[in-house]
Amino acid sequence: MSTQTTPDGTRPGGSAGLDLAAAELSDALTRRPRTIPPRWLYDDRGSELFSRITRVPEYYQTEAERSILAAHASSIAEITEAVTVVELGSGTSDKTRTLLDAFVAHGLIRRFVPLDVSEQTLLEAADMLAERHPEIEVAPVVGDFTRHLGRLNAAGDRIAGPRLIAFLGGTIGNFYVEERRAFLGALADVLSPGDWMLIGMDQVKDIGRLIDAYDDSQGITEAFIRNALVNINATYGGDLDVGGFGYVPFWDGRQERVDMRLRAEEPMTARIDDLDLDLEFFEGEEIRVEISSKFRPHELLDELVDSGFDRVDAHVFTDDADDFALVLVRRS
Ligand code: SAH
Ligand code: TRP
Repeated sequence: MSTQTTPDGTRPGGSAGLDLAAAELSDALTRRPRTIPPRWLYDDRGSELFSRITRVPEYYQTEAERSILAAHASSIAEITEAVTVVELGSGTSDKTRTLLDAFVAHGLIRRFVPLDVSEQTLLEAADMLAERHPEIEVAPVVGDFTRHLGRLNAAGDRIAGPRLIAFLGGTIGNFYVEERRAFLGALADVLSPGDWMLIGMDQVKDIGRLIDAYDDSQGITEAFIRNALVNINATYGGDLDVGGFGYVPFWDGRQERVDMRLRAEEPMTARIDDLDLDLEFFEGEEIRVEISSKFRPHELLDELVDSGFDRVDAHVFTDDADDFALVLVRRS
């Protein structure tokens, strides 16, 4: 295997940057508290489970965001006049159809660039959208939005005119505070003045509803969280005892986020061959798998302004129940 890397940490011609991902995972699993980087949730099976989460009755976010897009996508096309739409963490790009339909009707868009780590899901979604909109170019990018934002500018054939970067699904809430700041800063660096960012965020609300959204009665969210261990075992020859961990979701009121953990139900050891890693868990020891922060729109807007986006041109769109919000901001 070549160890030569490009400045963004990927191997020339390669896609995944495996060595960095392995080092990052080893570090996350051995650090205290132990964590797992979110992208381990989204192998093919994880992407499939996530799709099912978006359809469980307790998970209100997908429909709420879809209704906001249905009501405001035309305005977003008019306000931004974007010729390129980029979607980070695009997944199945299911809701994006609503957005793209409006942009195509508006008549300025020429290219759609979905970016995701989950390759198969990404390519299927890209095919679906290319078929739906033969009048635009669909150019998928396999990549990690915490590391590969540079790829958005790398293509030498950038189309002149404003870009809109969509970041939907409340994925902004899956960053820890410091990571979120770094991500927004990196985005602002990659964007040109006049480009736009559209961010979907779940709002702070009744705690019972929030918890239920991450602990559905069919157990699909629990299976989704556990699948991160299955994925790690399969990728790196590990023997983590998936059934030996209990699923523990709870509301962290101070940080205003749902916190999802796996807890060792008895003392356990595990070996991950390809990472040359031996792990020892004490009874009750937790792995922090994912957080989902909930927001107040004006607070996220303050963070965006701090990162280099413009307050004056900002728009906040919400659904009828005021559960979810889409924030639209321009790079100043
Ligand atoms: N935007 C979709 C999917 C949200 S789920 C929706 O709104 O329904 C989060 C998506 O982000 C998944 O498709 C996952 O594969 C992707 N993802 C997670 N971490 C990522 C990372 N670091 N880089 C790129 N994509 C990532
Ligand atoms: N962005 C989504 C969210 O935070 C991702 C998500 C949905 C998720 N359900 C989950 C992440 C369950 C981990 C576990 O709502």
